[in-house]
Amino acid sequence: MEKISRTKIVDLLKRVDFGAMVNVKGWVRTRRGSKQVNFIALNDGSTINNVQIVVDLASFDEELLKKITTGACISVNGKLTESVGSGQKNEIHAVDIEVLGVCDNTYPLQKKGHTLEFLREIAHLRPRTNTFGAVFRIRHNMAIAIHSFFHEKGFFYFHTPIITGSDCEGAGQMFQVTTKNLYDLKKDENGSIIYDDDFFGKQASLTVSGQLEGELAATALGAIYTFGPTFRAENSNTPRHLAEFWMIEPEVAFNDIVDNMDLAEEFIKYCVLWALEHCADDIKFLNDMFDKGLIERLQSVLKEAFVRLPYTEGVKILEEAVAKGHKFEFPVYWGVDLASEHERYLVEEHFKRPVILTDYPKEIKAFYMKQNEDGKTVRAMDVLFPKIGEIIGGSEREADYDKLLARIDELNIPMKDMWWYLDTRKFGTCPHSGFGLGFERLLLFVTGMANIRDVIPFPRTPHNAEF
Ligand code: 4AD
Ligand code: MG
Repeated sequence: MEKISRTKIVDLLKRVDFGAMVNVKGWVRTRRGSKQVNFIALNDGSTINNVQIVVDLASFDEELLKKITTGACISVNGKLTESVGSGQKNEIHAVDIEVLGVCDNTYPLQKKGHTLEFLREIAHLRPRTNTFGAVFRIRHNMAIAIHSFFHEKGFFYFHTPIITGSDCEGAGQMFQVTTKNLYDLKKDENGSIIYDDDFFGKQASLTVSGQLEGELAATALGAIYTFGPTFRAENSNTPRHLAEFWMIEPEVAFNDIVDNMDLAEEFIKYCVLWALEHCADDIKFLNDMFDKGLIERLQSVLKEAFVRLPYTEGVKILEEAVAKGHKFEFPVYWGVDLASEHERYLVEEHFKRPVILTDYPKEIKAFYMKQNEDGKTVRAMDVLFPKIGEIIGGSEREADYDKLLARIDELNIPMKDMWWYLDTRKFGTCPHSGFGLGFERLLLFVTGMANIRDVIPFPRTPHNAEF
């Protein structure tokens, strides 16, 4: 086969230099036609759209043609031709075809219309479907949007460790990291495991958040963000929780809670606009296939200012709803950690736009949040989104050494693990704020997918670490 340099299908579909000889490589999606002429829909992952290959059967060997089945990988040299059919403006009239990889009839993606549940079981192949091709191209584009947003604003991308000795959220949901022989654990007289001879010489875990180290960086570089994997051993089998998920955590010196809310709102709107502008084909596909309200929902978030409301007011609205007969699965009262049904009621039914809830009871929030004068609440903020519930969690941080220490004592957080964190409050402390955006929660919103397992290539959830 003559060597012609390959054109990606995304670029090829735009070309109008009809008559040119081109090469494309990709996987056969479908093949149909008559005894004289066949049409192959070829996809190479660069776009959701296929290129049509027109094959004049008389010019090709029968043995070769037999191998051009759904899922096979082929390389095609051919003439770029104006398409007379509807849909695309061009097609390729094949001159030479090479089968790079055959694909027999055990290939699970022959037929269309597999359920998302079934596709999760073949996560190694599902990127080849239109749906997951679209989702993963959008995932890439959102990562670029995030870096672009912070870079333009002069934030520095700061890498926080994945292996850590501290539990940032204090929720005890960490996966341990050890090289110890689990069949022969040495214990002290109290029955506690001895870690002296472990790899790090102490108990170590996978991080639940890069925030604490992010705060160190913010009090040096001014404004930073992290963007990396985080791990939570919480046993929640829901459509919104993963054991391994990616989080974006900006942290900014001198920002108060209002600046923090402004940043969060600007950030999400930037990402949503980016998706509409850079992923139009993929979003349109997902809109048409899964969620007819997707594009409209994305556009509406851009138009309106997010509601900003103290937790106490939010609970009042929910209690009024209950009094009027609205049924929630979980009870609502001041002090409760709101369930996603409560968050979604505020967003979807009551305000009909995103809501930032602030000033939560300190008992349900982490130790590092700035304490309010009332002695009961902290300067927390959760951003609540339609169909998702909490998409962002953040706060202004407690900058006062004594107050922070008192809270650490109150909650019995092991002090020896926190010495370096407390140094920020000892040496030139400053007001500062930050938040964490769950990357997959953002993707749920932008793709309209209903289950978080369908916006990450290889989901990790309780009892599931396949692939
Ligand atoms: O609210 P969270 O727990 O906040 C923190 O970790 C803070 N340290 C962030 C900060 O202030 N720098 O988590 C932040 C976000 C949530 O709002 C949610 O979007 C996402 O992370 N998240 C999860 N996403 C998927 N699976 C899980 N198990 C998640 N837990 C939290
Ligand atoms: Mg939270």
